[in-house]
Amino acid sequence: MTEQNNETVQALQWKGTYLRVLDQRQLPDKLIYDNYQDAKRVAEAIVTMRVRGAPAIGIAAAYGVALSVSQHYLEAPNHWQQSVAEDIALLAKSRPTAVNLFWALAQMQAVLEQNPENPVMACVAYAEKIHADDMMANRQMGELGADLLVDAKGVMTHCNAGALATGGYGTALGVIRSAVSRQALNVYAGETRPWLQGTRLTVWELAQDDIPVTLLADSAAAWLMKSGAIDWVIVGADRIAANGDTANKVGTYSLAIVAKQHGVKLMVVAPTTTIDWTIESGEHIEIEHRNPSELLPTCYNTEGSLVNAWNPVFDVTPAELIFAIVTERGVVLNPTQHGMLEIKDVI
Ligand code: MRU
Repeated sequence: MTEQNNETVQALQWKGTYLRVLDQRQLPDKLIYDNYQDAKRVAEAIVTMRVRGAPAIGIAAAYGVALSVSQHYLEAPNHWQQSVAEDIALLAKSRPTAVNLFWALAQMQAVLEQNPENPVMACVAYAEKIHADDMMANRQMGELGADLLVDAKGVMTHCNAGALATGGYGTALGVIRSAVSRQALNVYAGETRPWLQGTRLTVWELAQDDIPVTLLADSAAAWLMKSGAIDWVIVGADRIAANGDTANKVGTYSLAIVAKQHGVKLMVVAPTTTIDWTIESGEHIEIEHRNPSELLPTCYNTEGSLVNAWNPVFDVTPAELIFAIVTERGVVLNPTQHGMLEIKDVI
């Protein structure tokens, strides 16, 4: 069974002096936690997708900064800043699309600057706050999103936007959890090629909570919608532009187009830490391309091979295809630049 705390699996656990991380690459076959005591290894855990999902990446990076300060401040109390700056730069390079990473690093940088006398305690406390705030935001979004689903009979999700991808409870899966506690709901999950976050993570996570779920091949989604089985597609986000354009796991854009064709609504669920107010539209979002080897059969994975692979791992769904963006500060229906301002400064 899973180690559960606060009802859902906890992928990231702060243990006072080190970070315990569930290795998501091993799921669902093995439940393996590793301990992390320095920022370089945390950065590597993000690069290699042991930790993944936008909010979880941000939280892990915040703990990474706390570990960096703890290590270097003790080793060299008079010139630790340079080493911490190098670790922050390394963490910032780990993945490009999830803005939660850069948000969390900027928050930790500010805490460092404001607490020159006691940086270790201040950074640890702030990383824990980022983690706790994310869990609270997920609960709030769960309730707000479930309010929209009162008449729904079926929903489909993509990738894993659950407890595993966040501080706990989840964004899209948080909404599904809250809705399932209120009403009968058929839940479908796309397998999410090539990393299979749907197959390996989402169905496992829901099964841990005794929530029935039906897995489908990504390419079966249009036919599922045609059948009338689902009313909503519910997804998370890696970065939302100021006009509501949303970057999420590759395949979300296709789902949005197919959903529109079939009168199925698209709900994006994300904390406000996923909104990048500095960019006007999704055109400015950097899309991560991962190694072609993640897609290619081994026989083509050679120097000089005639067979290559194109492997973008996110895409951008234009705001006009989104019915609702659910955040902890409120819901934006039919998002536009103007509508998004409603949640910008709400505290
Ligand atoms: O490549 P991943 O697994 O990090 O991609 C994750 C997603 O695309 C999620 O949908 C997104 O980060 C939201 S997680 C609450």
